[in-house]
Amino acid sequence: MTSRRRFLGLAAGAGVGLAIPIGSATYAHLAGESTGALLTSALPLPEPFAVPLPVPPQARAVRSADGTDFYQLTQREAAVEIVPGTKTTVWGYDGIFPGPTFVGRSGRKMVVEVENKLTVPTSLHLHGGVTPAHSDGYPTDLLLPTQCGAAMRNGSYKSHQGEHGMHVEPSDWKVMEGLKSYEYPLEQRAATLWYHDHRMDFSAPQVWRGLAGMFLVRDDEEEALALPGGDHEVPLMLCDRAFEEDGSFRYPGVTPSCIGEPGVEEAYMDGVLGDVQLVNGAPWPVLDVSNTRYRLRLLNASNARRYRLRLDKGEGGRLPFVQIGSDAGLLSAPQRLDALPIAPAERFDVVVDFADCPVGSEVTLVNTLADGRMRQVMRFRVTRQEKDASRVPDQLSKAAAALDRGASVAVRQFDFRRTNSGDGAMWTINGRPFNTSEALATPRLGTVERWRFSSDFHHPVHVHLAHFQVISRGGKPPAATDAGWKDTVDVRPYEVVEVLVRFDGFKGRYMLHCHNLEHEDMAMMANFEVV
Ligand code: C2O
Ligand code: CU
Ligand code: CU
Repeated sequence: MTSRRRFLGLAAGAGVGLAIPIGSATYAHLAGESTGALLTSALPLPEPFAVPLPVPPQARAVRSADGTDFYQLTQREAAVEIVPGTKTTVWGYDGIFPGPTFVGRSGRKMVVEVENKLTVPTSLHLHGGVTPAHSDGYPTDLLLPTQCGAAMRNGSYKSHQGEHGMHVEPSDWKVMEGLKSYEYPLEQRAATLWYHDHRMDFSAPQVWRGLAGMFLVRDDEEEALALPGGDHEVPLMLCDRAFEEDGSFRYPGVTPSCIGEPGVEEAYMDGVLGDVQLVNGAPWPVLDVSNTRYRLRLLNASNARRYRLRLDKGEGGRLPFVQIGSDAGLLSAPQRLDALPIAPAERFDVVVDFADCPVGSEVTLVNTLADGRMRQVMRFRVTRQEKDASRVPDQLSKAAAALDRGASVAVRQFDFRRTNSGDGAMWTINGRPFNTSEALATPRLGTVERWRFSSDFHHPVHVHLAHFQVISRGGKPPAATDAGWKDTVDVRPYEVVEVLVRFDGFKGRYMLHCHNLEHEDMAMMANFEVV
């Protein structure tokens, strides 16, 4: 095993820069449009389409007072059956993976009281949430375990200090022990959000081990539309994993306990790709459907894998997706798409109509960016006829009209790339590794700015707090799939993506970062301060 420190040292010490050890791996991977290296399982891969699609249970409020709903969430270990016949120990919210689905109401405040019964610090982030900074899950804003030993209390979780130029101001470690309440005002539109761990240096392995769940926000505008609901509204959390022979998760981390040196083995610096496709935590599952419309809330919760999704009916037939929403809510109008490219952390809210599929037929969700077994994602089996009272109206949301470019009060550039410094190679933004004490931008609350993201590679760029609209990609108008309010956008190699970002909600320190979780853990994060 090569530690990150040693790897970085070697790259710099050998004086070869990016050309040989990194470059060759990187560009080979670009050919397949996947950002990372494939980790293979030690156990025999499970049969596809043998397991029914699980749907995570809905989180229930434990009490309500003064317009606020209180929830409790326990982060704990549990043994669950993912690959049939084996047990996997997950680090789960309430001991399940994915965690329970939260369903919030726009304008109604939610407080989630989190207890950490794991052996590692955590930081809960509501991705896409318009959340005050103290509850946003900043990486050094940690919840230590209830049963935390003296070593951790004395700071054993700070091991990364000084690594490859990353800098954490000593005063930035904000630590609670055992319990923490996260406040979500939810002064935001109906949308498909998700929550996941955001711990400094260890988000990638901790999310890989299970710390992720869906979080839906509903509002009146959406409810008036008669979109498919009930069991015709299905969250689909897509992620890839690999397994050891005994069923445990395989991950190429330098320190499997996640207490100690962070980072992954050298070969996985670009990202970790698994060889088992999970949907809602089940391998290649199958969902029985009627010949009606279904609303699918697609989330790419993978550490590094990109997808280009398509619905295959067999014999070359395809079923289209009707996209109704993006990361941060409904579109102005639905749009028909035959393929959906979806980068890590992006969401697509789509309606699929099985009306023309005879009972007994099957439709397979495939990922055309992958080969072999990973080309398949899950299957729908049309098993019954049913009346369909749902519809997709021509107009969806009034709040998704295009922003005017002229509204922007500042232009800023953020360049996501691998940088060689005295410390070796690292993932950086504007040439800088993550530094908690500096802000790369200080936008004013209530304003709109034009941000230009550029990259040398595939980097799914995510902005906390502020939602944005894509206005150009590679000097051209945005792709159809860039439509709507978003919080994450896929920036492809040597491409510039321009977005208009609106700073609403709260002042304070927030972050933007690459959502390839291995890149994120290895310094590709930056602060901005809303003033
Ligand atoms: Cu989904 Cu800062 O992350
Ligand atoms: Cu986020
Ligand atoms: Cu990246």
